Amino acid sequence: MALQLQPLHPLFVAQASGIDLTKALRDEDIKAINAAMNQYAVLVWKNQPLSQEQQIAFSESFGPLDIGLKRVFKRKERLPDERLIDISNVDLDGQIHRRDSPKNLSSFANQLWHSDSSFMSPRAAYSMLHALVIPSEGGNTEFCDLRAAHDELPQALKAELKDLSAEHYALHTRILLGDDAYTDEQKKAIPPAVWPLITEHPGSKRSVLFVGVHAHKIIGWPIAEARIFLSDLLEHATQRRFVYTHEWEVGDMVMWDNRSTLHRGRRYDLTQRRELRRTTFNDVPEANLAAS
Ligand code: OGA
Ligand code: MN
Repeated sequence: MALQLQPLHPLFVAQASGIDLTKALRDEDIKAINAAMNQYAVLVWKNQPLSQEQQIAFSESFGPLDIGLKRVFKRKERLPDERLIDISNVDLDGQIHRRDSPKNLSSFANQLWHSDSSFMSPRAAYSMLHALVIPSEGGNTEFCDLRAAHDELPQALKAELKDLSAEHYALHTRILLGDDAYTDEQKKAIPPAVWPLITEHPGSKRSVLFVGVHAHKIIGWPIAEARIFLSDLLEHATQRRFVYTHEWEVGDMVMWDNRSTLHRGRRYDLTQRRELRRTTFNDVPEANLAAS
């Protein structure tokens, strides 16, 4: 069967079906998914119970998987394969974390609007997040469309942004959350990355307002002025009309393009189990992003 798409929002996001993600993808399926990602930026797949190996195999058909922030934290992980990122509140022994666990800090950082790994160069292309256990309430994931956010900027602001670039730093969200006890080695493990505030999406050629909470400086600007401007731009980009809210069901697989969207997790009762698994690949030349 061929890929089918059902829009879920006026601007972006479609429910995708017609392809079995547990099986090897044909080249034409990969191209059709890339074309859909260029158009919709977020695809929601329902009822796709993927094993760890199947999620890796599906994701790797698009590009080599990246470990992201594991470069900094180097913790012992619950999931044996380092290509899987454990988006959960579960400890190595299978118990729900203590409230003040460092792992919960990562979940809180995920509740700030961000693009995965925008603090690296190359940055993340797609992320794939698969739901295994969800709390009875809350814990949604929200996405915003940075193309629409760009298109609706006032003309004068677009002109001002044209020549500006922001620096994105991996530990900025942690510092914001009151955690700055890092060694020099950790602080330097991922050198900051610089991205223009308006970028062109390589697949769709659409202009994107590339902001997000990892952006902590504007090149050449005083810090305070930059932070206020970045926070205004983020507020613009995340207005409700640009946002889709995903209410998870077990077996959902949501994939998004980090170059054209931001996302954030939403609050939930931390004493309830929430388990998702993420895979991410970067925008590297060997990624399989052709749409035709
Ligand atoms: C992620 C992320 C948000 C969530 O997996 O990259 O930001 O709702 N997740 O868990
Ligand atoms: Mn994320």
